[in-house]
Amino acid sequence: MAIDTAPIQAVKDNFDAEIGPYADVSVDGLLLPEATAQLAQVNELKIRYSGKKSELAALMKMVGAQAPEDRAEFGQAIQSVEKEITGVLASAIEKLENRIASIKIEAERVDVTLPGRRIAPGSHHPITVLRQRIEDIFVSMGYTIEDDREIETDYYNFDALNIPENHPARESQDTFYTTDGFALRSQTSTVQIRAMERRGVPIRILAPGKVFRRDTPDMTHTPMFHQLEGLCVDKGITMAHLKGTVTEWLKRLFGPDTVTRFRPSYFPFTEPSAEFDFSCFKCNGTGDFEGDRCRPCKGSGWIELGGSGMVHPNVLRACGVDPTVYSGFAFGFGLERMTAMMYNIDDIRHMFENDVRFLEQFR
Ligand code: DAH
Repeated sequence: MAIDTAPIQAVKDNFDAEIGPYADVSVDGLLLPEATAQLAQVNELKIRYSGKKSELAALMKMVGAQAPEDRAEFGQAIQSVEKEITGVLASAIEKLENRIASIKIEAERVDVTLPGRRIAPGSHHPITVLRQRIEDIFVSMGYTIEDDREIETDYYNFDALNIPENHPARESQDTFYTTDGFALRSQTSTVQIRAMERRGVPIRILAPGKVFRRDTPDMTHTPMFHQLEGLCVDKGITMAHLKGTVTEWLKRLFGPDTVTRFRPSYFPFTEPSAEFDFSCFKCNGTGDFEGDRCRPCKGSGWIELGGSGMVHPNVLRACGVDPTVYSGFAFGFGLERMTAMMYNIDDIRHMFENDVRFLEQFR
């Protein structure tokens, strides 16, 4: 008697129909969500067609119901279909898993040929660059860097500096005042007083900082600018120390051939007072640069830098220092003009407009 293979064939036909969309098709174009979904569907077919609860498993249980001489053939028919189904499932699963793996690898791939991302490092402001260079020179000469407030009382901005009541600098056309009557310091000389009160004498300080004056901005003026103030008080300090110190730091900044010159002047807080100039760093004091009138010194060979003098006895007294025992010198100058000359900046307003195209040039 022949065996009835129809139920076995039916299982095979159903499987073939269901696996069709996954078996002999290319998976190359599949995206991750599609490939993942298909893999889940094929795994579901695997459970239905090859698991313990599959129809083939059920048919296997019927082997015993066959005539003894048919049992082997019936069992083999089932096994051969089962082998075919598991083979087809395995290769469909492998194909999808490979596709998923390669999609993931592709997504995580690093393209080492891509150009790097450029980071934009910051840089120091040209005023800061120059200030730090000068600070370094003074620190090496035994000075401390002194920082102090920008909002002051009239006492520190004027009275203690021996600036009399009727001095024009005290007028509100020249100095900014807060509504409470405080002055925005118009000079860093205020720090002379603050530092002597705080530290006493002997003292050697360099005080950099912002100062404020009511000026209409133009190429050479801004209502806020920077000064550097120096003060040295000790027993036996003379004008020679002032001249030596100013000459020394200018030589260290601009080179050993730099020459300085002092001109008599007047400041309320020094006596005697002098303005100091140095030989132009561009033309070496000749006034002539490559056959043309030298620009920084306007052909004079000298660059005016700042004011200086021997600290007035009244200033020492205001700080509780006995002028018959101690003497000292002081000097002060602006940083903007010097920075502009050194970096060839034609308009100092550029320095405070915060335009990175300008600032980036100073590295
Ligand atoms: N404070 C003065 C100014 O703003 C500069 C100055 C002159 C400072 C003479 C000094 C000095 O210490 O001794 O113009």
